[in-house]
Amino acid sequence: MKVSVKVPATTANIGPGFDTLGMALPLYNTVTIEETVLPGTGVEINVLSDGFSIDEFALEHIPQDENSIVYKAVELLYNSIGQSPSELKITIKSGIPVSRGLGSSASVIVGALIAANELLGHPADDLALLSIASELEGHPDNITPAFVGGLVISSQEDDGSVVYRKLDWPSEWAITVCVPDFELSTDIARSVLPKDVPLKDAVFNAQRLAMFVEAVHTKDAELMRLALKDRLHQPYRMKLIQGLDEIMDSFKHDEDVLGCVISGAGSSVLIISKKNNLDKIHGTVRDIWASLNIKSEIRTLNVEPEGAKIVEE
Ligand code: HSE
Repeated sequence: MKVSVKVPATTANIGPGFDTLGMALPLYNTVTIEETVLPGTGVEINVLSDGFSIDEFALEHIPQDENSIVYKAVELLYNSIGQSPSELKITIKSGIPVSRGLGSSASVIVGALIAANELLGHPADDLALLSIASELEGHPDNITPAFVGGLVISSQEDDGSVVYRKLDWPSEWAITVCVPDFELSTDIARSVLPKDVPLKDAVFNAQRLAMFVEAVHTKDAELMRLALKDRLHQPYRMKLIQGLDEIMDSFKHDEDVLGCVISGAGSSVLIISKKNNLDKIHGTVRDIWASLNIKSEIRTLNVEPEGAKIVEE
């Protein structure tokens, strides 16, 4: 038997929602798990490129053995029913740039869990899979939108359960993803964060996150402009993303741009804007990075509404 699951990319944090907000985007990884007939062949993992030109070389960095996050996801699900995975061929068709803050690891965890669950005859329901996936990833903000699609607020509770709600993204606002040619691992990007933050910074983010939710509900661009700020992770990560200072500065007084934030843990940058002058926005980012000898790929994308799906491959 063979099962393929197509899973979208995600952008997490979106300004004030560190480890809380995430949105699915129409770039995809497809994870296929196939039971092989030859006994003793173990688990074989292959990664194939599926089209994001900037990322040809990064694919080599995806572990293809038991250290692979895909293997760990599959193993966790098998172990939960007292089995171990063996004689499986796992193929990842990768269309999501790796280590760029676009949820590539969340997407393969989600894809592998859904595929393995299907092969095993559904021992887990969707909420149980969400909980296993978030535990493995360490936070639910990429996992949940990869699973269910859309713009999502999520938390993982003390008992491991994931609670989430979807919000409707206003169609008037454009989402532009700016992907540089350099990687930034989430482990490094999390290692620079402090264990504790000043109370005034926590309050600042609580205020902005409340504004974000209201701005989305009421399509209030001016409120969104205030909301797309952060003091919990961005100030610490700025130095890890070359050119980010200049990119943010260049949009500070731009009427069309509502905010410019780090996508997930970086290295990509997310720009939320009105749907005017998108070419100018693309050009500004491309030129700033080019002046630092950084190549980039910049795309304005819609929200992917649906999330992970079983597909024929
Ligand atoms: N919320 C996470 C972070 C997303 O910013 O570290 C990256 O996985």
